[in-house]
Formats: sequence, structure tokens, C-alpha cells
Amino acid sequence: MTTKVIVLAAGKGTRMKSAKPKVLHHLAGKSMLAHVLDGVGVLEPETTVVVIGHGSEMVQQEIEHSVSWAMQSEQLGTGHAVQQALPHIEDNDKVVIAYGDVPLTRASTFEALYALCDDKTVGLLSVILDDPTGYGRIVRDADNRVTGIVEQKDASVEQQAIQESNSGMLSITGARLKDFLARIDNNNAQKEYYLTDIFKLAVSDGLTIETVHPQDVWEVFGVNSRIQLAELERIHQNNCATELMENGVTLRDPSRIDVRGPITTGTDIEMDVNIVFEGVNSIGTGVKIGANCVIIDSKIGDNTLILPNSVLEGATIASGCSIGPYARLRPGTELADGAKIGNFVEVKQAKIGDGSKVNHLSYVGDAEVGNNVNVGAGTITCNYDGANKHKTVLEDDVFIGSNSALVAPVTIGSGSTIGAGSTISKDVAAGKLAVTRAKQAQIDGWERPEKKR
Ligand code: UD1
Ligand code: CA
Repeated sequence: MTTKVIVLAAGKGTRMKSAKPKVLHHLAGKSMLAHVLDGVGVLEPETTVVVIGHGSEMVQQEIEHSVSWAMQSEQLGTGHAVQQALPHIEDNDKVVIAYGDVPLTRASTFEALYALCDDKTVGLLSVILDDPTGYGRIVRDADNRVTGIVEQKDASVEQQAIQESNSGMLSITGARLKDFLARIDNNNAQKEYYLTDIFKLAVSDGLTIETVHPQDVWEVFGVNSRIQLAELERIHQNNCATELMENGVTLRDPSRIDVRGPITTGTDIEMDVNIVFEGVNSIGTGVKIGANCVIIDSKIGDNTLILPNSVLEGATIASGCSIGPYARLRPGTELADGAKIGNFVEVKQAKIGDGSKVNHLSYVGDAEVGNNVNVGAGTITCNYDGANKHKTVLEDDVFIGSNSALVAPVTIGSGSTIGAGSTISKDVAAGKLAVTRAKQAQIDGWERPEKKR
């Protein structure tokens, strides 16, 4: 049997009040639909068919997963939506149906649901909810066998008291799915073709409905509004924080951290409040991160200290470095062991060698800085001539005096010193002092002007 997945994502999401289709709204830095596609990826489906309708071009444009698209131009119900995907389904496929607006389902839950299905069995992900309002209810007979699902709007008062609810997710063979969908109608309160109607057909054809519950109820929570999106974001962030702490990270406040992407961590890491991680990050053992830092696609080596209000993006930091407060490391920054980047320093596309320091108020871009270099306060690499970028090379043991401008392309030879306030536009050989400062003059007998009365 071939594995296929159908993801329903045609709904508009009116309550989002958005020009963007609902499934493209982000949770933890990634669209809800991408979360679902990542989740079902565990099944290694041969094909994943995404049923789209509202804002379909936008969805197709943003989603990078390799999927097949099915159009549902009019939203006539979940059963009708799945019908649009049937051209991609063969009889002997094993099909899992998921929802594009239910982003937090665990991969293991998809696996458990998938495992239920065979030729005689339809798998159903159901969940016991304290408040099942709005959900389809799972109806069982005296022997506790599932006999069908009744929608909230079609449910009797007794049925509304049932807490076992339909997640919407199910597993079924292609042949059964096609057969049942051909037989459903829209004679119900919402005049919709309900996917859920396939269950009573399955039962009357002698099939068994096997159910499995998710480990946590939030795995089946869908998003209909920005309020629900924010609720799921908090649940997800709480999970991320818990996982970090379980792995050996101290969080000063687990409710004040945001992890928007995969993060790997060593142990004995300390994180102060309001840190945002985006993209793919890795944080070494013994790292300390101060309050209000944003860290994007970066790799931080062991025992590095990141002081408050620093922003790192695409940076590779070795061990024992010190960064900030108020540092900005842009893509292509590479710090070697023990390097130090101080306050109000911007670094871009630059390698900073072992033990080198750029402590205050500097811009270092398109540069290669050797070991044990000291870059004085206010130093600027003038890397851009208005048309092209050029490189600055500071060899080992260079000392750049404060407030110097290094006009690239330029190389300062090892051990050389640049006098404070110099504008260096020519290469400096090793072991020299270069200074372009105007000579200081002292004017005798000069008097300050006085205010005229
Ligand atoms: C559906 C289930 C209900 C279940 C609930 C779980 C049916 C009839 N009901 O109800 O039993 O408890 O989900 O959240 O299946 N969609 C389309 N095209 C359509 C209609 C829906 O693509 O024509 C998509 C939506 O974008 C959404 C999903 O299907 O991703 C569910 O649709 P929604 O209208 O939210 O279903 P409910 O009425 O909540
Ligand atoms: Ca509906």
C-alpha cells in the first residue's frame, strides 16, 4: 500500500479578518500549513495533496514543501473538499486526512492514526474535551463501538453531552474513501457535504472504526481567530520552554522566551527574559544570554556571554566570546575563541580572530581580523565606495587607534599600530606606526571672543 496524505486548507478563515488565507498565518515563525506538512512528513507519504481555495495562489507561492494541489473553488464542506483530492488517490492507497489549520499535532499522533487503518478498519483521531462545543461528537453503541459522528448543529441534546469529539483527522484506504464519498449528501443543518458522514457508511458496510487519542488535547486544536492563534502560540512556546529546561537550560522566566524554529542546546545555559530565537540555532554549553536578545540562524560556542539587547543573525561564534550589550552581529560574522564585541558595534561578513576585541562604537564589515587585534572605539571599515564592497584585512596583533577610518581595500600588516583619528587608505606594512592626523598647533596670545553688549 502506498501512503498518501490529504490536507484540507481551502477555508477562508473569515474570523481572522485578513487578506491572507488562514493557513498561511504564522505560528512560531512558520505558517500553520507548514507545521502540518512537517508533521505528516513522518509518514513519508508518496504524495501529499493540499486542497486549496481561498487565496490559493498565495498558498502555492509561500509553501515550499513538495505537494500536489487540488482546487476547491467553492467551500461546500469537508467531504466535498476531500472529493477534490480524489484524482490523486488510488484504490490501494492508505490515506491520512489532516487539517491545515490544526498546527500542533505531534508526528507520533499521525503515526498512531496511520497504524489503525486497514481494509476493514477506518482510523479516527478522537479526543475527550471538557468543552466539546462546536466539535462533531463521536456516537458509540452499547458495546462502545463507534457508529457515527454527529455535528454540533445536527446533534440532539443528549448527543451534545458527549465529550468524545472528532479531531477531523482520520485514516482510510483509497478504495473505501472513494466509495463512501460518492455516497454522501448535504441533507444536514449546514447544507454541507460532511466528511464525517463516511463513518456511518463504513459501519453499515461492516467496517470497524478504531479510535486513538492524542497525547495532549491541544494537538487537535484548530485556529479560527487570531485569539486562538495566540493561544496555540503560547502552548507551543510553553512546550519549547519546557523542553529547553529539561535539556539543561535555566530560564529566568519560561513564559518570556520565544523559540521560532529548531534549537539545539548544551547544558548549563542561562537565559534571562525576553529572548527571541528565529530560524535554526545552536547554543553551546555554559552560554549565558542576557535580557532582550534576538538570535537568528546562529551558532554560539561554549561559555560565550551575550549581554543584553544584542541582535545576532547568521553569526558563528566560537567558545568563550563576549558580545554586547547592544551589539549587532549581521550575517557572515565569525568570531574565533575569546573574541570580544562590545557595545554599539556592528559586524557584518567579517572574521574576528582569537582574542581580538572590538569594544566600542565601531563598524566592521567585509573584513578579516587576525588574532589579538585591538580595534579602538569608533573605528569604521569604509567598505563601500558607493558602487562596490571592498575588503579590510587586519593582520595579527594590529592596534587600531580610536576614531580611525579604514578605507577598503586596505591591509594593515601584523603588529602595526594606527594612530587615533587616522584615515587609512593605503596598505600599512608589518610592524609600523601609521598616522594621518594633522599636526597639533598651539596659538599663543589667542583670546576667546566675548559677547558684544
Ligand atoms: C469539522 C468536522 C467536525 C470536527 C471539526 C474539528 C466535518 C463536517 N466536521 O468541523 O466533526 O469536530 O472539524 O475541528 O467535517 N475545509 C475545506 N473546504 C470546505 C470546508 C472545510 O477545505 O469546504 C477545511 C477548512 O479550511 C478547515 C477544515 O476543512 O481546515 C475544517 O473545516 P471547518 O469548517 O473548520 O470544520 P468544522 O465545521 O469545524
Ligand atoms: Ca463548517
